[in-house]
Amino acid sequence: MTKCLAIYPGTFDPITNGHLSIIKRGLKVFEHLIVAILHNPQKKPLFTLKERIEMIKTSIEGIPNVEVDYFDGLLIDYAVRKNATVILRGLRAMSDFEYEFQMALMNRKLNREIQSVFLMTDYKWFYTSSTIIKEAARFGGDVSGLVPDVVNRKLKEKFSQIKNT
Ligand code: PNS
Repeated sequence: MTKCLAIYPGTFDPITNGHLSIIKRGLKVFEHLIVAILHNPQKKPLFTLKERIEMIKTSIEGIPNVEVDYFDGLLIDYAVRKNATVILRGLRAMSDFEYEFQMALMNRKLNREIQSVFLMTDYKWFYTSSTIIKEAARFGGDVSGLVPDVVNRKLKEKFSQIKNT
């Protein structure tokens, strides 16, 4: 195993089973993972930072060598602060590729000591994303099996709160 710490960054609004799969597989490659949530209120996430942290913490319960944190500003600066040498990202359909390539190249321009590493998503999660899951859940669609149980519950709560306001 490569003895290093990897940062797994994202918006995680909310965490999905696809993310969880990348976390578990990432831990087979890296010694320690930090799931780092981007704190950017301008993105207007459905879930607050606190809610996203709680959902991830519950979803990774019992999995060793992984922690949850958040950052704002540049990802690469956060990685340096944490002494991480790797940024881990999952790749789904081809549509992810251009965005990820652009981001990886910018991160590499900013700091050549930190490597972006990609894991291909499992075929089961190929077409799922937080965005499409929220869209289905908003209109009462059943997203169980695509997200951890805690997220399924929170999505139902959140959309019933929104409906009642
Ligand atoms: O889950 P997402 O929304 O695809 O994650 C995107 C994320 C958080 C990894 C990306 O937006 C990010 O790193 N933002 C912080 C600012 C930054 O460093 N951008 C990349 C170089 S400009």
